Order: sequence, then C-alpha cells, then structure tokens
Amino acid sequence: MKIGVLTGGGDAPGLNPAVAGVVERATLYGFEVLGLKRGWEALSVKENEGHIVELGPEIIREYSRMGGSKLQCSRTNPVSGDNDRTDIVKENMKKLKLDAIVAIGGEDTLGAASYLFERGIPVVGIPKTIDRDLYGTEYSLGYDTALNVICESAQRIAHSAESHQTIFFLEVMGRHAGWLALRGGEAAFADIILIPEHPFDVGHLKDVLRKKLDDSREQGFDQIYKMIVVSEGSHIKGEEEVRKDTKLDEFGHYSLGGVGNYLKGLLEHDFRLTRYTALAYLQRGAPPTQKDRSMGRRFGNNAVEMVKNGDFGFYVGVKRARLVKVRLPEIRKSPSLVDVEKHYDTEMLNVKQQWTDMAE
Ligand code: F6P
Repeated sequence: MKIGVLTGGGDAPGLNPAVAGVVERATLYGFEVLGLKRGWEALSVKENEGHIVELGPEIIREYSRMGGSKLQCSRTNPVSGDNDRTDIVKENMKKLKLDAIVAIGGEDTLGAASYLFERGIPVVGIPKTIDRDLYGTEYSLGYDTALNVICESAQRIAHSAESHQTIFFLEVMGRHAGWLALRGGEAAFADIILIPEHPFDVGHLKDVLRKKLDDSREQGFDQIYKMIVVSEGSHIKGEEEVRKDTKLDEFGHYSLGGVGNYLKGLLEHDFRLTRYTALAYLQRGAPPTQKDRSMGRRFGNNAVEMVKNGDFGFYVGVKRARLVKVRLPEIRKSPSLVDVEKHYDTEMLNVKQQWTDMAE
C-alpha cells in the first residue's frame, strides 16, 4: 500500500507527531508513505513534483518533537465551488500510485476530504485545531500546547502588569470558540475572561473591573493589577467581531484580531493604565506538549489502521476518553462551542467553577 499524508489549514503543534505516527504504523505493515506538501495544494496542481517527499522511519525522531508542520500547510480548497479540482486530485493520485490519503486538518481540510470521499477518493482524517471546537471529537491537535503557551504568557505578562499596576488585555485565538480563553484564563487565574459565546456590555465590563479593583484595595493589596483574557472572537453585544483585515481565504473565512486593543481604547479613559498584547501566532509556535505528541502519535497510528481495514470516509475522534471513528461529513456539523450556562459566569465574566465535570 502507498499512503499520502497532508497537513492543511493553519499550522498547529501536534501535526508532525501525527505524521510520525502515520509513518511508524505504516512501516510496521510495510506500507510506503509520501508526504504531500502544503495541504491539498499538493494534489490540486498539475505540476506537483516539488510537493512530494518520501517519508520513511528515519523522519520519526525529528518529526515526533517538532512544532509547526514539516510538510507545510496551506488553506487551499481543492473543491471550491468555482474551481473544483477533484479530477486533478484523482489524476495525481493515479500518477503517484496512491491507495489512500490521510488528511490532517480542521473543519475545512476535513470538509474537503469529505467531499472528495463522496467522489470516490479513499481518505481518512485526523482532527487538528488549537481552537478545540470540531464536531465529533473531544480533542484536536494543538489545543494543549496552545493552552500551555497562554498560561505561561499570562505569567510572564503578570510581571510587567504588577510592576506598573496595569489593566492588561491578553488576547488569545480560538476564532468563534472560547475554549482557549476560558481554560487558559482559568489556569492563569485571570480576573476577567471574555468569550465569543457571550457578547458582553461595556458598562458591565467596567463595573466588574471596578469591583475587582475595589476588592483588591479593601483586601489591602499593595500591587494591584488586573488580567483580562480576551478571546479574539469575543465582541460587544450588538457589535461585530473585530477583524484583522478584509481578506477572505479560499474557504471564505476572514481573520480575527484586535478586539483586545479596541477594548483597551474604550477603557483607557476610565482606568489609569491599560495595556494590550495579542499572543497571536506565538500560541501555535511552540514545540508540542506531551499530550499533543501522544495524541498525534495515536491519531496517526489509528489512521493507518483505518486505511489497512478499508475504513475510508472517517476521521479519528475522541469520545469519552476513547478513540472512535467519526463519519467525515459530521465535521460540517455545528462546532463545539462553550456552553455558557454550564461553563461561564455571565455576572462576573469569568469561568464558572465546576467541581464534577472534568471532560471539558
Ligand atoms: O483555527 C486556528 C486559528 O489559529 C484560529 O484560532 C485563528 O483565528 C486562525 O487560525 C488564524 O489563522 P489565520 O491567520 O490563517 O487566519
């Protein structure tokens, strides 16, 4: 058997370990593996020699511990409405003598995989996104590493915030899902956490902040600073999300970013010193944590098992701490967002403490 493996969408820590996991299991069965560079682009252009790389067991050691994607990523959509390249994908598979594709990616990459599967292409998927919001799986590669970066960055910023007695906005990614902000902010003991799932009122935000400052003064704190972890997709009630620019990618998405700075501007007249930092790509740029290495390896191993068994048209998922097979079209179902009632304290604009539910 000959398997092609690709990484699509934004890079995330855990992609390389997943490729290493694919190669590891494939080697065990004597299967060949070709790395397809730049996501779906490798199969959707006619001249793709530069996109193909042979992957043998010698890559495992290096791939197992590296962040980003050695195979590179792109947001190429091979099946976009006005430019459907399914036929080129098929021709390329024939030319490369590929029996199966393992696609590692999020909603878009696996959505394209689903479409291609319906048109006869044998493909299995592995879920990846630091946002951890994919339908059908409780884990996606990159989330744990990004959370750890957020937690560590909040600690670093606290030094400066404490020294200058600052109100600090720390903006994190997540697109429309607040998991990174919620769980990163929880770990950092953030004073306020803003998530996309709960559009807020600026007056209320100011009131909560004032109360937090008053409480600290009453408690006799000498160094008073406040940390607000803000998800890039969070927004004021009745307002749109803050976009980085007006460009759309091939899947029709715009990039978010800047809401922390916007809020800083709105608050700086009422509060003495406000500061803003967006973690942006630093969140994705770390070496994978133990969890992302182990999960990548398991996902990769499992994907090869699925190929071996002819279980095409599925992606690997995690359900109640077990690896499961999920049908590819499910990836298009509504993303798994923060359940505000269950997880979020809308009064204090912070995580709702739970003592029983460990799953999320
Ligand atoms: O989906 C992963 C993610 O990191 C989001 O959290 C973020 O909005 C997006 O990708 C940023 O990527 P890009 O710069 O390509 O828009």
